[in-house]
Amino acid sequence: MPGIDRRTFLVGIGATGLLVAACGTGESPPASTTPTSRIPARPFDRRLPIPQLAPSTVEGGARHFSLRAAPGQTEIVAGTRTPTWGYNGSMLGPTLRARRGETVAVTVDNQLPETTTSHWHGMHLPARFDGGPHQPIEPGAQWRPTWTIDQPAASLWYHPHPHGATLRHVYRGLTGMFLIDDDQEPQGLPNTYGVDDIPVIIADYKFTPDGALDESDPDDIGLLGDTIATNGLAGAYFDASTRQLRMRLLNASVGRVYNLGFSDDRPFAMIASDGGLLEKPVSLTRIQLSPAERAEIVVQLNPGEPILLHAFPIDKWPDETFRERFGYTDSFDVLELRPDPQLRDAAPLPAVLATLPAAAVPADATRREFRLQRGTDANGKNNFKINDQLMDMNRIDFDVPEGSTEIWEVVGRDRVWPHNFHVHNAQFRVLDIAGQAPPPELAGWKDTVFIYPQTTVRVAVRFNGYGDSVNPFMYHCHLLFHEDTGMMGQFRVVAPGQPPPSVPGHSMPHG
Ligand code: C2O
Ligand code: CU
Ligand code: CU
Repeated sequence: MPGIDRRTFLVGIGATGLLVAACGTGESPPASTTPTSRIPARPFDRRLPIPQLAPSTVEGGARHFSLRAAPGQTEIVAGTRTPTWGYNGSMLGPTLRARRGETVAVTVDNQLPETTTSHWHGMHLPARFDGGPHQPIEPGAQWRPTWTIDQPAASLWYHPHPHGATLRHVYRGLTGMFLIDDDQEPQGLPNTYGVDDIPVIIADYKFTPDGALDESDPDDIGLLGDTIATNGLAGAYFDASTRQLRMRLLNASVGRVYNLGFSDDRPFAMIASDGGLLEKPVSLTRIQLSPAERAEIVVQLNPGEPILLHAFPIDKWPDETFRERFGYTDSFDVLELRPDPQLRDAAPLPAVLATLPAAAVPADATRREFRLQRGTDANGKNNFKINDQLMDMNRIDFDVPEGSTEIWEVVGRDRVWPHNFHVHNAQFRVLDIAGQAPPPELAGWKDTVFIYPQTTVRVAVRFNGYGDSVNPFMYHCHLLFHEDTGMMGQFRVVAPGQPPPSVPGHSMPHG
């Protein structure tokens, strides 16, 4: 491949400033050996599909979108027709786009053979429209959530959340992006959708010999694949026509963690995390994304000089065997960028992107602890718990007073197992990781954060509005196998003066 020295993929994989916390003294793993990768190299010879911007109509003061979830067939791998599920197409879904202040209304039509839900990941909205496990859409039924967009510009996403089956629904292809725009966005960021501003939805798959998705799984982190797809296709390239390219990266994998960078180690600017713009662009050579995390990056391209988005090994893990088992030694190309021989120039990136409030908490803030830990079920299989409990649809774990800011302390209790932590309805700020201030890439708005083994991450989270003494929001590990097997809990946001919380163990309303 012109201009690319493949050796660079195997060297220069030094520590990248990503948080590796103290894993307990006396436990340090042996110096890492040459990384092994189970992901075969492949040609990048298929044009990257750009999910369509969902058409919408404005009526009765709301912007209306329609999503229809249905089965189809997709050539994730060229020449192989794979049964998949998609929204308005055979796989993935259109990109929904709305502005802050707009009211949106979505019709979700379930044409799947089983019950699904439609969750708006990262969105601040009323609990009854959140699309979690308490808002099932039966086969043949429609669901019509509506809410007013009330949060900064961000790259959010949507996916199903049926109780115990989220992994399967997401794995089969039900994933789309939801972009929010606002008037505060600075001038000068690339923002022509599909041209200099592209969604890059990354997921890994494995196949049975007849080309179906292989859903058989060891009970660990969930369906690690040997085929990497971007926007639903393996081996894709993007023809770039501009010197600056904004990539909205989404890790839509059910279990894989990606440590992304470029084949020639060129730096890129990270401009946004899960919930919106960072204060200023941050120059990085790697960005690590665990399942559900997003990063917006801007990379500078040279005319006629292709480069590859590459996933590097995860540098540090407390145990070499598990490091390999979890895919953290894998090293592989993700997407090729092919700049035209002539590129449109672009203005330099703005020096200031956003003003973020200090990640501070009131001195009397409520502190809650969430201990994430693997367990085993009656058959000796792994299951996953928070505070020693499995998810129970009929148990509300706690209530949060509307308007309060709390400190949530998330503790990775396992010695070698990864987790991450996602909270519905609110974007949070990381206060510290193993006692250290977060690195710049984790200092902005987040809704999902990776939890290294034996590490505590403290976040400040504000619950603003939408008090509802009935419908809960979820918090969970977004490694979907863990979520499905128990690593999830529920809380309500309760307004002052709302009826007192009902007795624990009462039955939840169930659509
Ligand atoms: Cu992507 Cu419960 O969320
Ligand atoms: Cu979510
Ligand atoms: Cu987990």
